[in-house]
Amino acid sequence: MSTPGFDRDLGFFNRNALIEAELEALYKVGQVLSRSLNLHETLKAVLEVLNDHTGMERGMVALIDRETGILRVSAVHGLDPAATSEVVYQPGEGIIGATIEDGRSMIIERLEEEPEFLDRLGLYDPKLAFLAEPITIGESDSVGVIAAQPAARGLMLLHERARFLKMVANLIAQSVRLSWEVESEKRSLTSERDQLRQAVQGNYGFENIVGHTQAMRQVFEQVRQVSKWGTTVLIRGESGTGKELIASAIHFNSPRSSNPFIKLNCAALPDNLLETELFGHEKGAFTGAVSQRKGRFEQADGGTIFLDEIGEISAAFQAKLLRVLQEGEFERVGGTRTLKVDVRVVAATNKNLEQAVEDGDFREDLYYRLNVMPINLPSLHERVEDIPDLASYLVDKIGRQQKRKLSISDSAIRVLVRYNWPGNVRELENCLERAAVMCTDGAIDAQAIGLTGIEEKLYGAAAPKGAPRKRAATNFDDPEMDERERVIAALEQTGWVQAKAARLLNMTPRQIAYRIQTLNIKVQKI
Ligand SMILES: Nc1ncnc2c1ncn2[C@@H]1O[C@H](COP(=O)(O)OP(=O)(O)O)[C@@H](O)[C@H]1O
Ligand SMILES: [Mg+2]
Repeated sequence: MSTPGFDRDLGFFNRNALIEAELEALYKVGQVLSRSLNLHETLKAVLEVLNDHTGMERGMVALIDRETGILRVSAVHGLDPAATSEVVYQPGEGIIGATIEDGRSMIIERLEEEPEFLDRLGLYDPKLAFLAEPITIGESDSVGVIAAQPAARGLMLLHERARFLKMVANLIAQSVRLSWEVESEKRSLTSERDQLRQAVQGNYGFENIVGHTQAMRQVFEQVRQVSKWGTTVLIRGESGTGKELIASAIHFNSPRSSNPFIKLNCAALPDNLLETELFGHEKGAFTGAVSQRKGRFEQADGGTIFLDEIGEISAAFQAKLLRVLQEGEFERVGGTRTLKVDVRVVAATNKNLEQAVEDGDFREDLYYRLNVMPINLPSLHERVEDIPDLASYLVDKIGRQQKRKLSISDSAIRVLVRYNWPGNVRELENCLERAAVMCTDGAIDAQAIGLTGIEEKLYGAAAPKGAPRKRAATNFDDPEMDERERVIAALEQTGWVQAKAARLLNMTPRQIAYRIQTLNIKVQKI
């Protein structure tokens, strides 16, 4: 600093030099306060300016806690904030408490001669003068205190310095008021948001899962409950009822949400591939294993693994899975080192597992391990009331994919409600997608729905073309049909429920899954 009449080591020699330095400091304080709304930080910076430019040392600001009325130290120059955050004053207590209670300046020429001095901070020099000013919002609302000790060097000029400290207190008061206003605003917005969110969840559950029928509300409640914990969840329901959707809702609403969510369809792979896929393999474990590879369980560490179609795994594999579920342990294929992971398992099946256990196809111990927390998804025909909402939700979703505005008419929805949807929401989604493709203007009406072929499959007396017609007439042994056609026909007849189609064709679900893959049959959205 180049102020004449001031020397950093010797202090101020005359009043003019002091006033000039104070003006400069006020300007800097204004700058600091307008920089951010973080009071702790800005207050600390203000005290630093006072110290560096005007020789006001050992500065301290204490602010009222609005909930308790207690005065709490908010910033101290040259002290670790952790050491002071516990220091509090009751109104009226000590010099600081008296300053805020009286709302007047405190000018003490020698601190050790002041009987009220508490020395709670252990900060001050008892041989020096001490100044404290209330921080006041408006006429008389004292919200805090700023205090400091003018350095022993040079002139003390106590009354001049007290006047300066008052100006700083006024500037601080403005910032405190602003920061408190912003804070209250934020608090009321947050609580409003939480209330809204709760209201929305109370009505509908999760934003990408549609359903307000009792059955779905129960599902949402279960998802909310199980999400909090790491328990294994078994999701049951027909194909297309939203099992995968629910599995991801569980993961993304759980404390693991920022960690991986890994999915695997157990029916899509033969045993040996399933094993390397899940557990990984070591280099040289088998022909072609040229390098070591991590399995899905390792990838999912800390997160969630979703094992779809768990009912389809072989006995040998059931034993391996049981061990991971029980111990969290496994070895990579071809490896001897035991790996340990922290993975939450969510499994899904459309199979009657109890029956499979009874038939000896599914290990009972594994069944109990998986069935800790079952969630049953209703099929779509059990919640017909959800069809209108689902239809508009899905039409919006398809519109976003097709990048155009789509709408659906009430007459179209009336047709949809009459169908029994063996392929559930997936079939509804596919039907709407086909209908949308056929509508050049993007307005889906009953006619467009009719073109998708579901009219023919409408069941009950309401069917327009007379008798209910099932397509069971297809003869799957027809020698004219090739393998691909047979599989497609069976899938269509069963609404793309693979397990049911497999039964029609006398195949196992694994066999049909394998054919779907090798015959390159496009299954809508697996
Ligand atoms: N309640 C629902 N709300 C919105 N979309 C749904 C709902 N249930 C299923 N879907 C949609 O239907 C399709 C099939 O769901 P999915 O979770 O794959 O069924 P699953 O795993 O039971 O066969 C997906 O595109 C999914 O987003
Ligand atoms: Mg699925």
